Amino acid sequence: MIIQLTGLSGAGKTTLATGAKSLLEKHALVTEIIDGDVYRKTLCKDLGFSPKDRMENIRRLGKLAWSFKEQTDIILIAAINPFEAIRNELRDQYDSKTVWVKCDMAVLIKRDPKKLYKRALLHDDHPDKIYNLTGVNDKYEIPAAPDLIIDTSLETPAQSVQKLYEFLLSNKKDPEGA
Ligand code: ADX
Repeated sequence: MIIQLTGLSGAGKTTLATGAKSLLEKHALVTEIIDGDVYRKTLCKDLGFSPKDRMENIRRLGKLAWSFKEQTDIILIAAINPFEAIRNELRDQYDSKTVWVKCDMAVLIKRDPKKLYKRALLHDDHPDKIYNLTGVNDKYEIPAAPDLIIDTSLETPAQSVQKLYEFLLSNKKDPEGA
C-alpha cells in the first residue's frame, strides 16, 4: 500500500510517518518512508522547486515507492507534493491513498524549525529572502478528496500518529487478496 502524505513544510509529515512506522513494526508490518527531504539530496538532487521539478520529484518518488512494493507492506511518501494533478497521477497509477497533513500557517510560522518561513517573509530586497516557499509565495493546491485529513495544529503529535496508524491498519490490503 502506497500512501501520499502531503502538506506544507513543517506540518509534521516526517514526524507522523516515523511515529506510525514504529507502531506498525510492532505488528510486524514492514514500513518504508520515502522522505522528500532525504531524496532531494540523492535521487532528486538535480531538481529545484519549479512546478515542473516538483512534479518530476513526486513522479520519481512514486516510481521508487512502487519498486519497494514486493518487500514492503506500507510505503509512506512524505513530501510537500503540492499539485493535485501529480497526486492524482500517482493515485491512479499505483492505487495510492492521500493523507493531507494540514496545519495552520500561524502554527507553521511559530514552529519553523528550518527558518524557511522566516526567510520567505523577509522584505523583497533582503539577500536571504526565498521566493518560492510553498504556502507563502508558492502554490499549495488543497487536496480535493483526501482519504484522511490530520490537522497537526489541533492535536498532539501522539494523537496524530495514532490517527494515521489506525487509518493505515484499517486500509491495509490483505496480501492474499482475500
Ligand atoms: S516537493 O514540493 O517537491 O514535494 P519536497 O517535499 O521534495 O518538495 O521538499 C521540500 C523540502 O525542501 C522542504 O521541507 C524544505 O526543507 C526544502 N525547501 C527548500 N526550498 C523550498 C521551497 N522553496 N519550497 C518548499 N520546500 C523547500
